[in-house]
Amino acid sequence: MPKVFTTEELRLFQRKNDNNRSWGLVPTMGSLHQGHLKLIQKAHAENAMTFVSIFINPTQFDSKNDLENYPSTIDADVEKIYTIDPNICVFIPSVETIYPDGAKARKYTLQGLDKTMEGMYRPGHFDGVSTVVKRLFTLLQPDVAYFGQKDFQQLQIVSLLAKPLGIEIRSLPTVREANGLAMSSRNSRLSDEGREKAKMIYATLQMVKSNFSSLNIDALKTMAIQKLSEAPQMELEYFEIVAEHNLNVVQSKAKGVSYRAFVAVVVEGTRLIDNISLN
Ligand code: PAF
Repeated sequence: MPKVFTTEELRLFQRKNDNNRSWGLVPTMGSLHQGHLKLIQKAHAENAMTFVSIFINPTQFDSKNDLENYPSTIDADVEKIYTIDPNICVFIPSVETIYPDGAKARKYTLQGLDKTMEGMYRPGHFDGVSTVVKRLFTLLQPDVAYFGQKDFQQLQIVSLLAKPLGIEIRSLPTVREANGLAMSSRNSRLSDEGREKAKMIYATLQMVKSNFSSLNIDALKTMAIQKLSEAPQMELEYFEIVAEHNLNVVQSKAKGVSYRAFVAVVVEGTRLIDNISLN
């Protein structure tokens, strides 16, 4: 399996393997789970060459503690990618490769997509995500890039960034544990008991979906917030219903608009997010 650490090695690898067919990129921060592996399998099936980047991006963390505690399992990750195909190129850059002028995020104007939910609760997060994703696009020159729907707000933002660059964004639905908990690298920090408690997140989203046609937005939000607030040892950060195309929080339903519910909670000190399409 080719492993690449510097931009020079990367260029060499790309030149040697270029056969004029599409290149796919799956950007990750490692600690790969089934959700990542499904994206990698899709990229591998759809492209002549597939890159998986593993880089824990310091500029997208709003808390030093969260960055320091982010799980890192590079050897196991490389092994998992190897089982899909040893020819997949794993790009594991240093902080200096991504940020030659120092690890700082650029400021982005993202048509308001960053103003709600994660953008509101994690100031600067999407500037960090946008900076690293654009840098990875520049370095790896993909034709297609793959992102999961668990981070739906991120997906909308990278789609906006990719459009003028002619890079296509493809996504896959969230992969879930047997109890409904959305797969996330952060789940590895939860105890068995924590995982059990966290199943309430998806159960609440499903409840909102099944009541969507019969209740108004206010009633749906009240019901969800009550259920999540009553859950033991779970702190609710936000529950929102938004219009899917612009991620604006809505107060009422309109014809022809697709809606999504989003939630962020903290369980055992670990922040978990999830979302569901409502109609
Ligand atoms: O979704 C992630 O894992 C990260 O936000 C990403 C897209 C790899 C950027 O660091």
